[in-house]
Amino acid sequence: MPIAFTALCALAWVSAGADTPKPVYLSAKWDPIHFKPAIETATDEQCLTCHREVLERRPRSQTISGESSSDLQAWYQTLGVYRGEQESFHRRHLVTPDAKRLMDFRCNTCHQGHDPKDEISGSADDTQRDLTSRKSVDPEICVMCHGKFDWEIMAGLAGDWPAVRDQFKDDCVTCHKEYRTVRHQLSFLNTEEIEEAGKESGDSCYGCHGGRAWYAIPYAYVRRPWLERMPEVEPDWARGRPTEYDERFRR
Ligand code: HEC
Ligand code: HEC
Ligand code: HEC
Ligand code: HEC
Ligand code: HEC
Repeated sequence: MPIAFTALCALAWVSAGADTPKPVYLSAKWDPIHFKPAIETATDEQCLTCHREVLERRPRSQTISGESSSDLQAWYQTLGVYRGEQESFHRRHLVTPDAKRLMDFRCNTCHQGHDPKDEISGSADDTQRDLTSRKSVDPEICVMCHGKFDWEIMAGLAGDWPAVRDQFKDDCVTCHKEYRTVRHQLSFLNTEEIEEAGKESGDSCYGCHGGRAWYAIPYAYVRRPWLERMPEVEPDWARGRPTEYDERFRR
């Protein structure tokens, strides 16, 4: 991989002009763009100069033993709103039709710096603080869209969505036109398109609220004031929750 990678970089460097020094794998790996503060203002184009493979790589269409990927269904592929061929993780968040319609990710929405040496914060004085141990992305953001459907706190729901979907005619907005009406005001979400898709089916809402639950836990969303009829008494489960997200996610 380093050899192919270096070749790729060499191309990028050659096209950048004759005066530019020859690429060195180690310097590229430790390029300041990977760390705060530079990563906070990096553009996707800058990252993709060296990492185009994250958008181009595709999963195999056949296993080594000869099974076709279209014959093998994982649980998340049985979701009503799963579309298309098997795709890679990055493509599912950046280039598939649903990714483009519902979301607006940048590389640095998820990538906030990582430590190529120890994968841990604070092992030396000059490493970036606040890294999540052994991860190059803080998974907190993943749980926002890949947590469990928290039906227990939703008054009026007797079970998980697949069990009550028909009762509510596959429509979350029956209730959510009244409850928690100020939502999806974050930089990486396409607010209007999410509501449009929600009119087509509740399953498209469920797609980010339980349908692709990689985590067994629900996410504790902030509880913003609703437009009207917000009960004055705060339920126990909501006590102490903030009413706004981290600055970097705000529009
Ligand atoms: C100058 C070329 C270059 C640029 C620009 C660049 N990277 Fe990298 N990046 C590398 C190299 C080289 C490595 C080391 C790869 C390895 O060891 O497998 C690396 C490693 C990484 C890794 C860790 C890979 C792993 O397996 O541990 C991530 C994540 C990453 N880069 C993301 C980014 C993001 C996000 C940006 C834009 C903010 C970016 N890179 C910009 C060259 C670059
Ligand atoms: C939805 C969140 C998300 C977005 C958006 C995202 N990444 Fe990643 N990326 C991840 C996660 C999670 C990993 C795996 C991290 C780990 O192993 O700790 C990863 C891994 C990587 C790696 C190393 C492994 C590999 O697949 O080669 C590179 C390089 C990388 N990302 C570059 C990018 C670039 C460039 C962009 C923008 C075009 C980008 N990422 C956008 C979440 C994201
Ligand atoms: C804003 C919501 C959102 C966030 C945040 C998010 N995802 Fe996703 N994720 C989605 C959606 C929507 C899809 C399905 C896209 C599609 O079907 O084209 C998806 C698909 C996936 C898939 C399935 C890929 C496949 O093969 O079909 C995995 C795995 C995944 N996400 C993991 C993660 C991880 C890990 C993170 C955190 C780094 C993350 N997601 C952050 C919304 C999100
Ligand atoms: C029977 C009415 C009803 C239906 C149907 C319903 N919800 Fe809810 N939902 C609620 C109530 C009530 C709350 C809690 C409101 C409060 O007090 O903050 C809630 C809260 C939520 C929350 C916030 C959870 C938290 O931890 O803050 C999300 C996200 C949510 N619902 C998504 C959905 C999705 C997606 C669907 C459809 C798949 C759906 N709901 C269907 C009534 C409903
Ligand atoms: C692309 C992924 C995605 C889809 C699709 C989606 N959501 Fe969300 N939802 C999120 C994320 C991320 C948050 C956290 C940001 C926020 O609270 O606004 C969230 C938060 C919420 C909240 C809590 C907001 C608050 O402040 O009280 C509710 C309620 C909710 N969603 C309902 C829905 C409903 C109803 C639909 C369908 C119309 C839907 N979601 C579709 C990703 C999604």
